[in-house]
Amino acid sequence: MIFSSKYHNVIKEAKNLVQPALDLSAKMMRDVAENSPQKLRKHFIQTIERPGKRLRSILLFLLASSNGGIKDLERAAKAAASVEMLHLASLIHDDVIDMSEFRRGQNSLHSSFGNKIAVLVGDYMLAQSLIFVLEEDDRRIPQSLANAASSLVAGEILEIDLSGNIDISYEDYIQIVEGKTASLLISCAKSGAILAGYDEKIVEECGNLGLHFGIAFQIIDDILDYGIDAKNLGKKNFKDLQNGLITLPLLLYFQKNPKDEMANLIKNASDPKTANLIVKKLKKANCFEEAKSVAYSHLLKAAKILEKLPPSHINTLLKDFFEAMAERKN
Ligand code: IPE
Ligand code: IPE
Ligand code: MG
Ligand code: MG
Repeated sequence: MIFSSKYHNVIKEAKNLVQPALDLSAKMMRDVAENSPQKLRKHFIQTIERPGKRLRSILLFLLASSNGGIKDLERAAKAAASVEMLHLASLIHDDVIDMSEFRRGQNSLHSSFGNKIAVLVGDYMLAQSLIFVLEEDDRRIPQSLANAASSLVAGEILEIDLSGNIDISYEDYIQIVEGKTASLLISCAKSGAILAGYDEKIVEECGNLGLHFGIAFQIIDDILDYGIDAKNLGKKNFKDLQNGLITLPLLLYFQKNPKDEMANLIKNASDPKTANLIVKKLKKANCFEEAKSVAYSHLLKAAKILEKLPPSHINTLLKDFFEAMAERKN
């Protein structure tokens, strides 16, 4: 018998609701890909053929629908296509930085075609992402996307700076996460709220909602990197450990345990046995559970903000969407 989790049911319902918008934005990306320079075209097309979860688009569309339905499908689809292209560009470059061989269940672009292609495809997508919202009437949309593109880099570079530093603080960690991940979710949530026609106060509240959702999303990603509760992840485990990244589970460990032994293990984390030993120690010290409850507290904060939006079926679905996110396995 197949049991469907709450997460799968919620995602399915959300996707169904916004399917026309998802389809239109996929078509828009396909058009951009087909008009790209000949040498990049096949890579661009291949990349968008593996669309990922599209959670950023779903969030944008749900918020855009939350005030009596999507008002302008074309505008919403364009904003989401722009978000997904920026996200994809960041993933392609992130795989170069993290030396990750696997993405969305297949070889990453750089591992198949080399860094030159990966850098250029990523750059091209980033440029297209920004071009895509250039003519958007509400200037707050391109502005928030450009801000996200910039913050993302700041987050990635801070992460590199602090890699291997076992004295990293919780504030440092959150600064990385806000930059590299939450910034784009802030942009999604704000864009959705703008397209829904909410006033500035609510748009700002939705920015906060995106912030909390984004922080939670990255904390869960960091837990999944250890293989904890992961299923069909589509990327390899232990990349963070191998890159010396002290993400929340380890940070929590260091806060309450002697550091030396764990610091030595981390240095040898490319050995699978050592990586598994690290997992064992983190499990024993309850660090995954604690990290998960930090993520959950942010999801609850995101859900709480929904109370400021008009009550509706979409509003309830968004609440379920946030609460179910703690259960995601990929
Ligand atoms: C991966 O994002 C990068 C992070 C910010 C954690 P997703 O988990 O949304 O990746 P896809 O788009 O579904 O592949
Ligand atoms: C992703 O963070 C952030 C960006 C894409 C900028 P991760 O480095 O954790 O992403 P994954 O785990 O490789 O997807
Ligand atoms: Mg990374
Ligand atoms: Mg990760």
